[in-house]
Amino acid sequence: MIPATDISLKDYNTFGIDVKAQRFIVATTQEQLLSILKTHSDQALFFLGGGSNMLLTKDIEALVIQLAIKGKRILRQDDDFAWVEAQVGENWHEFVLWTLERDLGGLENLSLIPGQVGTTPIQNIGAYGVEVKDHLVECVALRLKDLSLVTFSNSQCAFDYRESIFKNEFKDQYIVLSVVFKLSKRNHQLQIGYGAIKAALQEQKIAQPSIQDVSKAVIAIRESKLPNPKEIGNSGSFFKNPVISVEQFRELQAVHPEMPFYTVDEQTVKVPAGWLIEQAGFKGKRFGDAGVHDKQALVLVNYGKATGAEIAQLAEAIQARVSEKFNIKICAEVNIF
Ligand code: EPU
Repeated sequence: MIPATDISLKDYNTFGIDVKAQRFIVATTQEQLLSILKTHSDQALFFLGGGSNMLLTKDIEALVIQLAIKGKRILRQDDDFAWVEAQVGENWHEFVLWTLERDLGGLENLSLIPGQVGTTPIQNIGAYGVEVKDHLVECVALRLKDLSLVTFSNSQCAFDYRESIFKNEFKDQYIVLSVVFKLSKRNHQLQIGYGAIKAALQEQKIAQPSIQDVSKAVIAIRESKLPNPKEIGNSGSFFKNPVISVEQFRELQAVHPEMPFYTVDEQTVKVPAGWLIEQAGFKGKRFGDAGVHDKQALVLVNYGKATGAEIAQLAEAIQARVSEKFNIKICAEVNIF
């Protein structure tokens, strides 16, 4: 297989940033991927999944390999649970819908999150009280150093809020190839405590929701708050919600009693970055084609022709203003290249 040259990556990243890959190749099977890696073992590599958690600020000189290996199946099941496997290149939301069609519960709160299955454990995607780590049994990853396959159990992934071993200790060392989830076949444990979900279900007068109802509620909430990347380029939450000390939280709360928060433990509190950014005056602001979404300030958007550098500059301005106003450092959730 010979890489294509000078390929625009505009359609390969949800921000819709128009940078070029000097060389670009697609791997649709594990064998192809191994063959590409062996042929190009002396070169710098750049792995691309769904492109939904990245901001590209310049042309990519490394060989871009798009991970497009597909496949999903029920591995085994008992009366209560099914163990489901999906390959790296499966679209996440389509996979969630596929599990719901089979009446398998667990992933419904994670409906409509952009991206591919293989990247979900890397940043431990989460929404509305559920994270991938809650249902992931194991994942198989390719060690780039020697092209061996390594199985990581849930605990070996060292999951945390939007974190895993693949972003930290083993950063750039592995490619997740497939993931196994354990999903419920009956007695589904619904997570509907999140205010917006409760309200959406109440509005539809659903007293005993099914997993499909919860998925529909989540889809409705996301559609009302988050821009569709096919219409307005974005990468979901651009920043992580910062965790601050209880002391700092109390001082801030005295000045801003309305500040929303989630208690993490006895020493720390998580504060919504979206609220901080809104208070810092950025919600709905637009600078050329780079902007801050008007319904959720945590989401930076590309209205059309913004460059990655312009979005990165806006992110820095937001960080500086939030730091100045609240003395809180907010960190990017998306990877900036
Ligand atoms: N808020 C504001 N102004 C805003 C945005 C939010 O005041 O512009 C306030 C809200 O009123 C609410 C609080 O901040 O009181 C939290 O907002 P929201 O429920 O929208 O959730 P979030 O903390 O901003 C996180 C995730 C989202 C996920 C939602 C729902 C992170 C970084 N983001 O956002 O994940 O969908 O919770 O669970 O943890 C993503 O990672 O790409 C993503 C969209």
